[in-house]
Amino acid sequence: MSGPALPHGVRGIHALPAEHHDGPWDAIITPPGVKERILGTVLLRLLHGPRLATLAGPLHGLVVLAGPPGTGKTTLAQGVAQAAALAVASRGATTLVDIDPHAFPSDMLGESQRNISRLMGETVPELAARRPHTVVVIDEVESFAVRRSSASFETNPVDVHRATDAVLAGMDAAAASQPRLVFVVTTNFVDALDEAFISRADLLVELSLPDVETRACIIADALAELALHWPSLAGLAQDAEVHHGLAKRTEGWDGRRLRKLALGAIARTPAIAADPSGLDAAALEAEIDSYALWRLSPPPNRSAEEET
Ligand SMILES: Nc1ncnc2c1ncn2[C@@H]1O[C@H](COP(=O)(O)OP(=O)(O)OP(=O)(O)O)[C@@H](O)[C@H]1O
Ligand SMILES: [Mg+2]
Repeated sequence: MSGPALPHGVRGIHALPAEHHDGPWDAIITPPGVKERILGTVLLRLLHGPRLATLAGPLHGLVVLAGPPGTGKTTLAQGVAQAAALAVASRGATTLVDIDPHAFPSDMLGESQRNISRLMGETVPELAARRPHTVVVIDEVESFAVRRSSASFETNPVDVHRATDAVLAGMDAAAASQPRLVFVVTTNFVDALDEAFISRADLLVELSLPDVETRACIIADALAELALHWPSLAGLAQDAEVHHGLAKRTEGWDGRRLRKLALGAIARTPAIAADPSGLDAAALEAEIDSYALWRLSPPPNRSAEEET
């Protein structure tokens, strides 16, 4: 479902599992145990939410994925919905609701608060009633649950407070009335999130930039994908020694940039771009070197200009 028929603030509604949602979950490589823990937390709620609701400290159905840009947060949030939907499929389908947090700008005086209250109090429960399980993804949630203690009192104090209050109240109500509903949210700025929001999280995962082992795996995976299209790259895609050498030289790179490394190396010369089968380890190393150069030294004329 897409287009103008969607309720306000909803970017997409999908019935899962669906084959075309396969992929994202497997694409993200994390240190051992991280993905299992995310999936385990979502499954606990989807499968046993009603039973666990009677505990003195019940689940809130909130998973927060935090971390720097390009570390796979959005992909994991979308991916866990499909992975969980597959795991619970024998008990019924799952609705994935994709929320657009920018639909609730904090400068729109009481309007945002009313819209958030409607989203949480009406839209989400109505959507959750459609199928036995529901995963609500809120990407870049920092614009949604703004930390009240640091919200500027000059710009929009009352409204920010009310909007965040509305998110918390809405989330509590939804958690209580929809025990098989999970919110999976992402943020670059965990410190910008309201403390009471963070405190409700059943799981807070702070993804970091990939370590050397993970970098090697991401490089290998990206090359393996290319080898599906250009089979003569299979040797390079399987050469663990090359992957480790490249991984050692890419400290500080995020997953997004690592995935683009091979494409950048292919694009270095029109000849390899025309026939990517010509990609080799030397071109990959040269691409890393030129990226490092570009990062470390400003373009020659810029620095002179900036000093004046
Ligand atoms: N750990 C990883 N393993 C493999 N691929 C990764 C990893 N992290 C990121 N990527 C790749 O990088 C790209 C960007 O990922 P994604 O959009 O999920 O990152 P993000 O953390 O949401 O970034 P942003 O904060 O900028 O929104 C995707 O193509 C994804 O496959
Ligand atoms: Mg993202």
